[in-house]
Amino acid sequence: MSITHVSGRFDGKTAVVTGAGSGVGRATTLRLAAEGANVFALDIAADALAETATLAEGLAGKVSTRVTDVSSRDECFAAVAEAVAEFGGLDVLGNVAGIARAEHILDVTEAQYRRMMGVNTDGYFFMCQAAIPHLLERSGNIVNIASNAGVTGQAYGVVYTMSKGAVVQLTRSLAWEFAKKPLRVNAIAPGMVDTALVANYQMPSDVDWDLVGRVMAPRPAAQPEDIASMFAYVASAEAHNVHGAILANDSGLTAG
Ligand SMILES: NC(=O)c1ccc[n+]([C@@H]2O[C@H](COP(=O)([O-])OP(=O)(O)OC[C@H]3O[C@@H](n4cnc5c(N)ncnc54)[C@H](O)[C@@H]3O)[C@@H](O)[C@H]2O)c1
Repeated sequence: MSITHVSGRFDGKTAVVTGAGSGVGRATTLRLAAEGANVFALDIAADALAETATLAEGLAGKVSTRVTDVSSRDECFAAVAEAVAEFGGLDVLGNVAGIARAEHILDVTEAQYRRMMGVNTDGYFFMCQAAIPHLLERSGNIVNIASNAGVTGQAYGVVYTMSKGAVVQLTRSLAWEFAKKPLRVNAIAPGMVDTALVANYQMPSDVDWDLVGRVMAPRPAAQPEDIASMFAYVASAEAHNVHGAILANDSGLTAG
């Protein structure tokens, strides 16, 4: 299946995208740049980020990169400030960076717990704090990549589902707080997406597949481009009436 981008939909716009070195973040970066956006692309992995920049060569918009650990509040603020300095303002924040792991709750160390919450929850929060003043100046919007794991429980995924549930509530609460201001806030909740995150996912050795089967979708996994396509729509002016939404893109997983 080929996905056709909408030429010029983001002409003159600037986006900051986290997790831009791989999977959904890379696909989103390339998609927005193909549609005319200048993208300030962030990732903790320098080589992967450089590869994204290479892939973006020749697209309509410019892609600049900055190695950034989104779990650091200072890094988030510095990255947004650099994006605004380079491109003159900010129209879209895409919070995409994330990590996942399967584990029994009793096996989770404090360091593992804090790292997952630090990247998946703190990172989203601090990026929002840093970006919102600039987004308000340009009637901008935020798209958070949550997960089906933020709206349903999952065996062996307690920390991940907690971190993504927080992203869902971050999205909804910001949507209310800014209901009368020029800022839209939405989230996309993917099911399984064919990325490195899934490829590296290791179940506990004593996994009960009956429990895991409850969170397997009836249709094939998405490709990162499927999520990027929805992202581009939600972040565009076409979606001006979409606010505070948690949009499923999950192969039917949460159909009930
Ligand atoms: N793949 C799936 O099935 C799936 C499903 C639902 C939600 N998601 C969410 O989608 C988002 C993207 O995941 P993906 O599947 O593309 O995974 P991915 O592993 O392909 O990409 C994640 C990127 O985030 C980067 N990253 C990790 N920690 C970081 C940090 N501290 N600071 C900055 N960047 C960091 C990684 O280097 C990587 O490039 C994540 O938030 C993930 O939770 C993925």
